[in-house]
Amino acid sequence: MEASRTAKAGKSLAALAKETATCKRCDIWKCGGRAVFGEGALTASLMLVGEQPGDQEERAGHPFVGPAGRILDEALEAAGFDRDMVYVSNVVKHFKFEPRGKRRLHQRPTAGEIDICKWWLWQEVRLVQPRLILALGASAVRGLLGRSVAVGKSRGQIMTIGMPDAAAVPDTIPQADKLRRERDWQGALLVSIHPSFILRQRDDASRHREKQGFISDLKHARKYLA
Ligand code: URA
Repeated sequence: MEASRTAKAGKSLAALAKETATCKRCDIWKCGGRAVFGEGALTASLMLVGEQPGDQEERAGHPFVGPAGRILDEALEAAGFDRDMVYVSNVVKHFKFEPRGKRRLHQRPTAGEIDICKWWLWQEVRLVQPRLILALGASAVRGLLGRSVAVGKSRGQIMTIGMPDAAAVPDTIPQADKLRRERDWQGALLVSIHPSFILRQRDDASRHREKQGFISDLKHARKYLA
């Protein structure tokens, strides 16, 4: 039963990933980068959601493989998670940046862009059916709660959430019929910082403190799932 569910989910996720490649629902596609879809275990009980792929993620075509991804991997390991056990995604699928010479400077997506793009993420939630979603930073919180909430205010509390109306499947999506037949979802949400917040700290002591706090949040997730 579980094997046939994950096989079907895998096919639907692959089809959705293909569809995001040509997504023009908001203007970020005009930056010219490729869309990066979520990846990980289709049986994952924990889904991690970041903001958007960064420069290295866009080049590699995989989420969280750059500097923030390395911090994430270290923290996951410290909390007793194997990256292969979890599903990792982003609330926005294209890299929004401003070209500056040879560099591509990260631009934060607007609330409007998040509200448009989050539809893809909700289909991933529908298909993977995690028990717990860990929102990494304010953009992920916006996409998952449907409103902007300061990370500091919601951090650490396990909240119950379900699929929003915004996750409804419109007929224009080729996967519509298949997705409509999938189960709805209800699960838990835990809010934490984005790993790049750790990288932005000015000194080693602050970086260490923030990283320990991030690991504690992941341990909290692990306890909840035990
Ligand atoms: N930051 C994110 O939010 N997601 C990634 O995939 C990489 C960096």
